[in-house]
Amino acid sequence: MTGGREMTGARETARPVLCLCGAAVRVGGRTLWSGVDLEVGAGEFVAVLGPNGVGKSTLVKVVLGMQPVAAGEVSVLGGRPGESGSRVGYLPQRRSFDPSLRIRGTDIVRLGLDGDRWGIPRPWGARRARERERVEEVIELVGATACAHRPIGRCSGGEQQRLLIAQALVRRPEILLLDEPLDSLDLPNQSAVAALVGRICHQQGVAVVMVAHDVNPILHHLDRVVYLAEGRAVCGPPSEVVTSATLSRLYRTPVEVLRTGDGRPVVVGHPETPAVQGGPHAIAG
Ligand SMILES: Nc1ncnc2c1ncn2[C@@H]1O[C@H](COP(=O)(O)OP(=O)(O)OP(=O)(O)O)[C@@H](O)[C@H]1O
Ligand SMILES: [Mg+2]
Repeated sequence: MTGGREMTGARETARPVLCLCGAAVRVGGRTLWSGVDLEVGAGEFVAVLGPNGVGKSTLVKVVLGMQPVAAGEVSVLGGRPGESGSRVGYLPQRRSFDPSLRIRGTDIVRLGLDGDRWGIPRPWGARRARERERVEEVIELVGATACAHRPIGRCSGGEQQRLLIAQALVRRPEILLLDEPLDSLDLPNQSAVAALVGRICHQQGVAVVMVAHDVNPILHHLDRVVYLAEGRAVCGPPSEVVTSATLSRLYRTPVEVLRTGDGRPVVVGHPETPAVQGGPHAIAG
């Protein structure tokens, strides 16, 4: 994998905020993936793709410092993983709210500010006003103003996802890690949330690493893709990696990349599930 060296165009000089070099991870006595090289620049939008169980969430946890590497080097904002605090925002995989939950959207976003201050009384005065302003600002940024005062359990999946992205953004992170934020959204909402993340990334200069199941809704926003498969990774700009030849080789099944009328690539026949033969690293056939 040749990560940052393949960057093109205006972002070629982007300052790297995240580097993995020859990284490998072992869990439960087996190597999940190895030899992973990845460089992400400030303001870049990178997707991590691959079948279930291949180690996408584990890659995110490595960046968070929640999972150590067994080999190689990882640098996050010039330091070690887990040492950058609120400079790294994180939206974990699979969140759902009970429909009866009364807590409001604004409170969910505020938790992003207060989460590490449990038990400590909320600030008063100017600081409290500044925090309220920031919560409102970030809710507006994600387009959730209309639903933010509703109980979160009564917001739609797309609205909940926007509010959770706002929570991850509220402390102005330089890196945003989103683990399957499009999960269980319908197609229009997937497109809308993908466009929102693309805007946050490119306009606010936040580096985004998004784990995704389907590349299509995000493809034209991406600067880079990382495909994990069979214990290794292929990385590069979508124009180089998202091709019929590369994906068919990776997934060991015919995957076609077609062009829409306006020239956008669409991946057809993308495997939905990993193959059962050959153990956890096998790719759908
Ligand atoms: N701490 C751990 N100990 C043992 N096995 C683990 C540990 N953490 C993860 N695994 C295993 O590693 C594999 C990869 O897990 P991970 O959650 O990273 O996959 P994923 O690619 O995100 O999958 P999905 O698409 O289903 O979310 C899984 O088989 C999982 O059970
Ligand atoms: Mg996962």
